Amino acid sequence: MPESVPVLDFGSQTAQLIVRRVRELGVYSELLPHDVAEATVRALNPYGVILSGGPASVYEPDAPMLPDWLITTDLPVLGICYGMQLQSYALGGRVVRSTRREYGPAMLEVIAHSLLFGTITGEQPVWMSHGDHIEQLPPGFHPLARTTDVPFAAMGNDARHWYGVQFHPEVVHTTCGRDILRNFLFAVCGCTANWQPTQFVAQAVAQVRAQVGNERVLCALSGGVDSAVAALIIHQAIGDRLTCVFVDNGLLRQGEAEQVIKTFRDHLHIPLVTVQATEEFLAALEGVSDPEEKRRIIGERFIRVFEREARQMQDIRFLAQGTLYPDVIESRAPDRQKGVTIKTHHNVGGLPTDMQMILVEPLRYMFKDEVRAAGVELGLPETWVWRHPFPGPGLAVRILGPVTWQRLETLRQADAIFMAELRAANLYRTTQQAFAVLLPIQSVGVMGDGRTYADTIALRAITTEDYMTADWARLPYDLLARVSSRIVNEVEGVNRVVYDVSSKPPATIEWE
Ligand code: XMP
Repeated sequence: MPESVPVLDFGSQTAQLIVRRVRELGVYSELLPHDVAEATVRALNPYGVILSGGPASVYEPDAPMLPDWLITTDLPVLGICYGMQLQSYALGGRVVRSTRREYGPAMLEVIAHSLLFGTITGEQPVWMSHGDHIEQLPPGFHPLARTTDVPFAAMGNDARHWYGVQFHPEVVHTTCGRDILRNFLFAVCGCTANWQPTQFVAQAVAQVRAQVGNERVLCALSGGVDSAVAALIIHQAIGDRLTCVFVDNGLLRQGEAEQVIKTFRDHLHIPLVTVQATEEFLAALEGVSDPEEKRRIIGERFIRVFEREARQMQDIRFLAQGTLYPDVIESRAPDRQKGVTIKTHHNVGGLPTDMQMILVEPLRYMFKDEVRAAGVELGLPETWVWRHPFPGPGLAVRILGPVTWQRLETLRQADAIFMAELRAANLYRTTQQAFAVLLPIQSVGVMGDGRTYADTIALRAITTEDYMTADWARLPYDLLARVSSRIVNEVEGVNRVVYDVSSKPPATIEWE
């Protein structure tokens, strides 16, 4: 059992990020509800606990509090933002409402030596996001750092190994954040970095074996890295009792269906059922322009195709999905504020309610980068492991307006040129997602001596850490020029290419 430092979730937007950072440093971590039982934490072989930030104020009537067992625990504890305020409040300090909310960059001044700051001294840029702050430290704690607005920006009780920071060490804007977390894990908690993401594979294989027994499993492949890694793990666990289903819905990129089929059959030797459903999908989408309507139709079609396949393979009780840890965290946190629906995301393999199949989710504790590491370990080709994400509704949400076969072909060609040039320029791996979009407008152009009135292709390339926010990639002008020239010359019906220079927010990554 690896050492762990779990994170208790008090609702911060960056709580998941703390877990990721801890794992990146070679220590296992999970995000647990703030009122988790001690036994659940102890079962993870904990060496310490981290308390996340959160939107509440300790004096609000329904504010989430520290669980009783934690107040008397012998485990080291690091409180972050609201987590620090809770430590203070629970141990007899005083927390007050600030006159103004502090949000964004601040300059931290380290004022005392501690295991937490180690060799970090002097002034350090940090990221703040809080309404309340600590006015009086609890007994036994001493101040470790301050900012101009916050006198106790960090505190510590060395005897008890309890520390608190008002800022967020998990975000990249806190440049010494990684070192602070490292000090907490190794100098304070005494961890030895005995965990790495590839350990997930052995663990997941054993879990699948135990869950499935002698039964058969159906796995929907999307062509993306998640479902492929899920399939490989299950295949290792139960061999040929796994059947993969790949639906060619006609909304895929150039050569994609052939590549998926070939890799699975010839390279990975996993049985694959391919369902040709292009006509069915295109018929259902005919004349539909509304983005949400497109998503709904495609989601439902997938389910119908899937139901048909499952009926044909009668004795299958288990359905595999490539659900990742962030999805699990989101779906099990009812007290997290639900935002408005921006887009109805869906993944291939959405569970038909009347199918009565039991879910197998071998990736349910993994982040995307850990899935990639597992993919490499399991022999998935590098080109697949590093493939950019592709939305479940496929090219349908990259064709603005109605989807027709001809428009799909236009977009496929333009997209393939963009990808080929991006790879040739060695920039595919440094952009996290790039693609072409077919716009519903035509514009005037001149080709040779003639007038054209033809379609516009928009190119989109982004850089991002987590796809929640993104910036547009500063691609070199020469590359853009080459892609543009090739598209207007090689793709019939296109006379104009534009580059999308919007970040997310306010734009989303996909156009629909
Ligand atoms: P947005 O457009 O919401 O996209 O900024 C964020 C990330 O999610 C991908 N995306 C989807 N993935 N099913 C998926 O599996 C979907 O319906 C879907 N819609 C968007 C998008 O490509 C980007 O990586």
